[in-house]
Amino acid sequence: MRVLGIAVLSVDGCLTRHGESGVSFASAEDQKEFRAAMRECGATVMGRRTFDVVRDRIVGSSDTALLRTIVTRDPSRYAQLARPGQIEFTAAGPREILGSLSERGYRAVAVLGGAQIYDLFVAHGLITEWQITVEPRLFGTGTRLLTRAADERLVLVEHRLLNANSLLLRYRVG
Ligand SMILES: NC(=O)c1ccc[n+]([C@@H]2O[C@H](COP(=O)([O-])OP(=O)(O)OC[C@H]3O[C@@H](n4cnc5c(N)ncnc54)[C@H](OP(=O)(O)O)[C@@H]3O)[C@@H](O)[C@H]2O)c1
Repeated sequence: MRVLGIAVLSVDGCLTRHGESGVSFASAEDQKEFRAAMRECGATVMGRRTFDVVRDRIVGSSDTALLRTIVTRDPSRYAQLARPGQIEFTAAGPREILGSLSERGYRAVAVLGGAQIYDLFVAHGLITEWQITVEPRLFGTGTRLLTRAADERLVLVEHRLLNANSLLLRYRVG
């Protein structure tokens, strides 16, 4: 299974600007790449806090082609928002989530964060690729890509300017 971690970061490695939620600092070009990569995978996994930020957009979406799996310790709290095959809530561990997606025929999944979910998948050694956009910002404080000790070795497979200042980096893990 291809497991693609996708994130947009400040140059100093922040997923968020200070304590703010969301990625309003992401360029339009990054968001276009983000959507394309997500669609190519067909299945996504995100943490409940990330879901909360984009909840209205996801719940209001008529897109039936993309499965969003939201990781929470209390899936029953979100039962009313669930739509099997489109919006699913789970307390399963990362291996179980990927196993279930694989059994259902998915060959690629995009792991969309936030930090707790990247931490979880990295700790289990499950991310096979990263797509990271570095935006020309320095925040000093904010949620970092990873918050737990890790030692991933990455091989650069692509680097491309998305506009004059935003850099897309693709790595494989390994
Ligand atoms: N720059 C980027 O590319 C990017 C990407 C994604 C997110 N973000 C931002 O990052 C922020 C959110 O990141 P975050 O790290 O605070 O939260 P998160 O990873 O999105 O979600 C954390 C939640 O996931 C659930 N969770 C975590 N570990 C779990 C486990 N082992 N089992 C079951 N459930 C588990 C818990 O949900 P419950 O509390 O419901 O149990 C936890 O509160 C938001 O501001 C978002 O906009 C930025």
